[in-house]
Amino acid sequence: MPEAAEVESLSSQAAKRSPHADPDLIFSKAGIQIFLADARKKLSCFESGTFQTCVTSPPYWGLRDYDYPDQIGAEEEVENYVEDLVALFRNVRRTLRDDGTFWLNIGDAYTSGGRTWRAPDKKNAGRAMNYRPDTPKGLKPKDLIGLPWKLAFALQADGWFLRSDIIWHKPNCQPESVKDRPTRCHEYVFLFSKSERYFYDSENVQEDAIIGAGRKNRRSVWSINTEGFKGAHFAVFPPKLVELCILAGASAGSCVLDPFFGTGTVGLVSKYLRRRCVGIEMKPEFAEMAIERIETSRAKECCLPLS
Ligand SMILES: C[S@@+](CC[C@H](N)C(=O)[O-])C[C@H]1O[C@@H](n2cnc3c(N)ncnc32)[C@H](O)[C@@H]1O
Repeated sequence: MPEAAEVESLSSQAAKRSPHADPDLIFSKAGIQIFLADARKKLSCFESGTFQTCVTSPPYWGLRDYDYPDQIGAEEEVENYVEDLVALFRNVRRTLRDDGTFWLNIGDAYTSGGRTWRAPDKKNAGRAMNYRPDTPKGLKPKDLIGLPWKLAFALQADGWFLRSDIIWHKPNCQPESVKDRPTRCHEYVFLFSKSERYFYDSENVQEDAIIGAGRKNRRSVWSINTEGFKGAHFAVFPPKLVELCILAGASAGSCVLDPFFGTGTVGLVSKYLRRRCVGIEMKPEFAEMAIERIETSRAKECCLPLS
């Protein structure tokens, strides 16, 4: 649970700056707004049709302990995790414009193989869960859960148009000591749309043709190295990945949403691409990191043009 004093301090600083503003609004500069809040509640404050695209990465199931009541990712059953995210993303769909898109990054996981506990790590703010969830019904020890696809199909059934699965290939992935399967070096990014027809700027994200000079339509495998970020103990988006989603999904000047803002990569990239952005983050320490990053970063740091 966030330290009450921390929330109090961030919110009261914000209230002093702008006494009539929403108390959850802790940063508002150059079109980037950060709300310190639970996205399950905060999304309802935004009018329908506010955002043109949403780029996000939710907490993974049974992986990180964000130390927050009823936290997403701590559900005992994988079905409940999927239901919780479907409900939250339904509210995201409401806030999207009719031509809006939703880019969802999600990784897969293996069943625990009978291990139920992890070693606790008291030092890390985003530390690992101290338990491993039971093997989901119908699966066996060592099974790959297929979580991204369970979620993708549930979102499709809930009304989203599932337009593409994108393989985020990580050339610098962590080595694994496994000897009975290949080392995993990818996650998924799903592209959903709110309507059958939607905004997608294919020219903005073309890639170099392999044969001859020239450009071709962006392919569905994106090779992008992961990038660490000091102080963040969870997976941070590489700016390049977010850049592609925003260039394709958000026209100049439109507004981008990330309801699981973390250290604010989506805000950082939005700033350099001259899009507006709303980020929602429930942990004060991560929201602070996001503010510092957005205020102090240089374009070079996220490999983006500052034009
Ligand atoms: C995987 S991290 C996102 C990292 C982010 N993409 C970045 O580049 O830093 C998920 C984030 O969601 C936040 N979070 C989890 N549940 C939340 C909720 N209900 N409302 C708002 N934020 C939440 C966590 O605190 C964490 O910072």
